[in-house]
Amino acid sequence: MPGSWPRWRPDHKLAEVSTAAAPEPPSGPGRTWRSLYQQAAARLGDHQVARWFVEEASGGRWPMVLDEEATAGGAERLGRMVERRCSGEPVQYVLGHWAFRGLDLLVDRRALIPRPETEVVVEVALGELDRLGSEGALAVDLGTGSGAIALSLAAERPGVQVWATDRSEGALAVAAANLAGGGARVAGRVSLARGDWWEALPEDLAGRVTLAVANPPYIAEAELAGLPEEVVAWEPREALVAGPTGLEALEQVLGGAARWLAPRSALVAEIAPHQPGAAQALACRAGFDEAFVRPDLTGRDRVLVARRSPGQPERPGAPPAVPAR
Ligand SMILES: C[S@@+](CC[C@H](N)C(=O)[O-])C[C@H]1O[C@@H](n2cnc3c(N)ncnc32)[C@H](O)[C@@H]1O
Repeated sequence: MPGSWPRWRPDHKLAEVSTAAAPEPPSGPGRTWRSLYQQAAARLGDHQVARWFVEEASGGRWPMVLDEEATAGGAERLGRMVERRCSGEPVQYVLGHWAFRGLDLLVDRRALIPRPETEVVVEVALGELDRLGSEGALAVDLGTGSGAIALSLAAERPGVQVWATDRSEGALAVAAANLAGGGARVAGRVSLARGDWWEALPEDLAGRVTLAVANPPYIAEAELAGLPEEVVAWEPREALVAGPTGLEALEQVLGGAARWLAPRSALVAEIAPHQPGAAQALACRAGFDEAFVRPDLTGRDRVLVARRSPGQPERPGAPPAVPAR
């Protein structure tokens, strides 16, 4: 599991842009973005990242920008980005934003970098919303971080109201900035609340939530040392580590569900690839009528779906329903 973090791999390269260009001064006025790009790519050992940094620092369009003269400010900004990356900072934090399901999200050290597997979690969650009826539905994103899940649900299902909670003040500030940047697509339909999982929600939502989504921390304390240095040193520990077993946060999220979920509802949660059995058992113990897992893009079981159905008596402690795939 730890080896699966992060999804970003600095080894995939872009086709190299033509390096044939007139000789230029080594520094100062007269330098084009092309020569700065070549220099950055050599220092980083990565053409893709060098391109992203040049696009960010120049604000220009690729590849036309390469023939433009770099401004002093832009060149300085590129230099700082290259140095930050060389010091080990994740590409996403250096850029300051990252794509998630068509959203361009602000990201910084206060919040986890949104991952591709979480895009699949959203896909599964949207499927549950459609099954349950998304018009007028109330959804919650527990442990929202950058707001990636909450904003995707709101942007992709216009009839849904979303509440997003997080215990971290810093993460909620990032989510608030992303909400502000979400514009008309999400305006007025996403609310943020600070606090512990469900407890951050207003009381009047109890029993009314159609869909709960969470990507809780699921790393066990002992697994932390096995994660890439880039993750451990830069991403918030409270976004990564759940406790001694790695299941503590999921257990809290599942355990609080009965009071907040509507009689016909679902909970969708991201889990580690080795947790499906334990996660299904926890869902069953928490009184869900059905629990199964769905795979991520690489075919590993990463998404827990737990459903409540009206008319089904709660059966705490009963064995999990037969997994439906
Ligand atoms: C794995 S990150 C997920 C962030 C975001 N949802 C995503 O998918 O990119 C887990 C989030 O849960 C938050 N968190 C940790 N413990 C919490 C708690 N007890 N109550 C609420 N949020 C918590 C962390 O601050 C972090 O933002």
